[in-house]
Amino acid sequence: MDKFLFGVASSAYQIEGGYNEDGKSESIWDTFCEDRNNIEDKTDGRIACDSYHRFKEDVALLKELGVNSYRFSISWPRVLPEGTGKINAKGLKYYLDLIGELISNKIEPIVTVYHWDLPQILQDKGGMLNKDFPDWLAEYSSVLASAFKGRVTKYIIINEPQCIVGQGLVTGDHAPGLHLDIKDALYATHNLLKGYGKSFKAIKRIDSKAEISIATTGNVYVPEDKESAEICRQKTFSVDPEYPWFGMSIYLDPIILGNYPEEYYKNFGDILPAITKEDLDLIHQVPDFLSFNNYSGTIYRKGKPIDFKKEGIETADIEWEQIIPESLYYGSKFLYGRYKRPVLVSENGMCDNTGADKGEVRDIRRCRYIEKYFSSLMKARKEGADIKGYLYWSLFDNFEWSRGYSKRFGLVYLPFPDTARIKKDSFYFYKDLVKKNNF
Ligand code: GCO
Repeated sequence: MDKFLFGVASSAYQIEGGYNEDGKSESIWDTFCEDRNNIEDKTDGRIACDSYHRFKEDVALLKELGVNSYRFSISWPRVLPEGTGKINAKGLKYYLDLIGELISNKIEPIVTVYHWDLPQILQDKGGMLNKDFPDWLAEYSSVLASAFKGRVTKYIIINEPQCIVGQGLVTGDHAPGLHLDIKDALYATHNLLKGYGKSFKAIKRIDSKAEISIATTGNVYVPEDKESAEICRQKTFSVDPEYPWFGMSIYLDPIILGNYPEEYYKNFGDILPAITKEDLDLIHQVPDFLSFNNYSGTIYRKGKPIDFKKEGIETADIEWEQIIPESLYYGSKFLYGRYKRPVLVSENGMCDNTGADKGEVRDIRRCRYIEKYFSSLMKARKEGADIKGYLYWSLFDNFEWSRGYSKRFGLVYLPFPDTARIKKDSFYFYKDLVKKNNF
């Protein structure tokens, strides 16, 4: 059996900084943050955690934590400042150095290819609405696979298509801040999936040993009683007629099962883009494992959602995160049941804004969160779901997109704009958990 992946996760724009160094061009997030109204605390990721300069310290932290894997993403405009074409050797070197440092510390790199920071220059050409988008993504993926071959085996091509389309292109609260109509958004969705398919094939062509994935999120419905069980499973994969983008099946069904769900055609038939057999074949690249990002869920009782406020269910320090540990159990069981792919929990974590007091951060709620969610995942594993690993989000507090630095998910505290690293109690708690569960 493969080793259980125990690690933490991060993404480039949220931690790196070095926003204009060594030939990096602007990403859509650099541009988005220039309009201060877009970010709650009027900040940006220009410095963030400064991991561009402090990555050796970061790897030392990972080593101390005792994890065997680290998920991070590559900044597309750092590697290909023009979006395609000329490779920026200095930008690529940053990642080769990081990967080297990880490997020499026996920590497996898990590379997210696209975690939301599209080069602005490609957005200027229409981004995901440009018919060439799939080729751009595949070219970028090939550059990474060629450079990392022999050192990296796990790739997550896309992080959360749900948020890329939903928040980036429809509601506009993420970069590039668009408000597309439903028709264009459905076209972008299809194009994004074609990008996944092309990239998948490109990476496999270069490195047949590569294990490839996509990271999904979306609402998980948690049944409290028997009569809600089937309803919850169905709802988790249903297609919302008004806002389909936060669902899972509109992405995972074509990728794994070979076609969009019937409901998709039923709800959007006449406004869907042309979906050819050729497109579906291209998109149908079954991932070696499925990456699952999960933080919260919706509880059903007697076939109906419960009112979490009335029931006194705790909310984390970010309004969308109700603490519902069973969401990991049901989410991974539902996913494994429908798609039969091994599930890697590629993000799970709590926004707990507990601050530092004399150099200590007593984030007890986060420790409790990790303990409960992890044991709920282990229950699914015991019952036969193929669980490949668990990655906590995130190693440190970082730039939480449109919420800026006001929301903290880390095991390590940063007194922004100071980038000193202060280990929280949860750091030691997680370290202990990893040690105790050395499968
Ligand atoms: C996401 C992203 C992360 C977030 C994390 C906390 O899931 O939205 O992958 O970048 O920071 O989820 O919101």
